[in-house]
Amino acid sequence: MKPRLWFLASMYRPPQRIKYKANAGQPPTGTEAQQAQLFSPISYKNLQLEQRTWVPAMVPWRASEEGFVTDDILDWYERMALGKPGALVVEATGIRDIPSGPLLRMGDDRFIPGLSELSDVVRNASDGHTRLYIQVIDFLSIRRRPEREKFISRFLEITDNHRQRLNAEDDCETEIRKKLLALTDEALKAILTAREYESLSRGFRERVTDLHLPHIRELPEVLPNLFAAAAGRAQQAGMDGVELHYAHAYTMASFLSARNHRDDGYGGSRENRLRLPLEVYTRVRERVGDDYAVGCRYLSDECIDAGSDVEDAKYFGIEFARAGMDFVSISRGGKFEDAAQPKPGWAVYPYTGLSGYECMPSYVSDEKGPFGRNFGPVAAIREAIRQAGFETPVVVAGGIHSFEQAEAALSEGTADIIGAARQSLADPDWFLKLRMGRGDEVNLCEYTNSCEGLDQKHKQVTCKLWDRIGLDQPGVKLSRDGRRRLTAPPWKP
Ligand SMILES: Cc1cc2nc3c(=O)[nH]c(=O)nc-3n(C[C@H](O)[C@H](O)[C@H](O)COP(=O)(O)O)c2cc1C
Ligand code: SF4
Repeated sequence: MKPRLWFLASMYRPPQRIKYKANAGQPPTGTEAQQAQLFSPISYKNLQLEQRTWVPAMVPWRASEEGFVTDDILDWYERMALGKPGALVVEATGIRDIPSGPLLRMGDDRFIPGLSELSDVVRNASDGHTRLYIQVIDFLSIRRRPEREKFISRFLEITDNHRQRLNAEDDCETEIRKKLLALTDEALKAILTAREYESLSRGFRERVTDLHLPHIRELPEVLPNLFAAAAGRAQQAGMDGVELHYAHAYTMASFLSARNHRDDGYGGSRENRLRLPLEVYTRVRERVGDDYAVGCRYLSDECIDAGSDVEDAKYFGIEFARAGMDFVSISRGGKFEDAAQPKPGWAVYPYTGLSGYECMPSYVSDEKGPFGRNFGPVAAIREAIRQAGFETPVVVAGGIHSFEQAEAALSEGTADIIGAARQSLADPDWFLKLRMGRGDEVNLCEYTNSCEGLDQKHKQVTCKLWDRIGLDQPGVKLSRDGRRRLTAPPWKP
């Protein structure tokens, strides 16, 4: 079997390089599981879960090029639902009706039939035990890193600034391009603006602070309606609720960011940065009514220089609770700002820098280790929400893979609901196995992040623990390269 190390080069690893191994600890007996908080119900406003187990959003790269639900998507979520988690969140799904490759979309009513089928599949596979939420996302334009020559001779807009810095005020555009092409990278950096150099070295990326671009300036006018329409479609499709994606590297998180210095009332102070996220929520709530679950995913800390921190997150959490959200799910990091430089032809990937590590920590870590890095900040945010008088359920995720870990997080008041993404990918039945007192059968995630490497390459996401098992068995669907199965082998309870 060929080792899969190609993805490691582009991922951040803490310099301490301490290696950790996931530990199942002592799994519960069936009786202990019955009494466990993890398997107790939770009910708050529109969030009604039979148990406090939650599979957070994961993009599996299985939608059609046009953003529709495919059979492979149905298979993926059906397999997850067979493990009967309390909640299953459908991957980040685009709210705009624009081409975005094989990422799920819901920017038009034509997407509703596929999403309805998805709701049915999950309901059937979980025998109605799993609540299905969909994560709704907006993201800004990002281009691949260009070839140097192409960028200078075609994409770069020649300005007076270039002419002045080159002492070539009378030169025509072609001459200027020639001169720029002849420069070393260091010299070029001194002539281009920081933003131009970024477009060359990392690929052009829009920001919410690009107020000179009309469509960016207008985001506060267009986004509430786009999110509301998407939420309305989720409701029509029979999903149990929506999770507004206010986390990681995307538009809404960028509004919340301390780096958002918009001067139009939607940036600067915490209050202003929160304004659009609250306006989006209000419009969504108006659309779906008071009896539908609406929450958001946001960050405990952006984990970047001059980014938002846990104090911001406490404030945001209280205000989301005050506004009436049914839950908050808290992630961390995952930003573009500190991402690794992509190779030419590739787009920058927001999970390759330190903030990316904080989001999806791998087994090579620092003294803190990869398991439960978000526990402290999430506990502080939950406490702030409670102190403010709100009971809004808080979902935590990040390196959770054992019953003891999950139960401790619940009993210590870190969170109300336990999210496990990679552990659920590694073993979609793991919560069910624990609940049945068969925890010794759980396949533990190794946190090597092969799955994240596939995501980075926009390849169909699978887990290395099971994707090469039984490839020749009848009915097993394979990845495009024919080398991996697409869903975990069945487990007979
Ligand atoms: C392949 C993959 C795709 C992901 N896609 C999303 C996504 O669409 N939305 C999101 O909020 N987080 C996404 N995440 C992050 C996870 O939801 C989760 O926050 C992270 O993996 C840390 O939790 P874990 O340690 O339980 O895996 C993704 C993670 C993986 C591994
Ligand atoms: S590939 Fe599988 S074992 Fe490795 S991190 Fe992803 S889910 Fe865990």
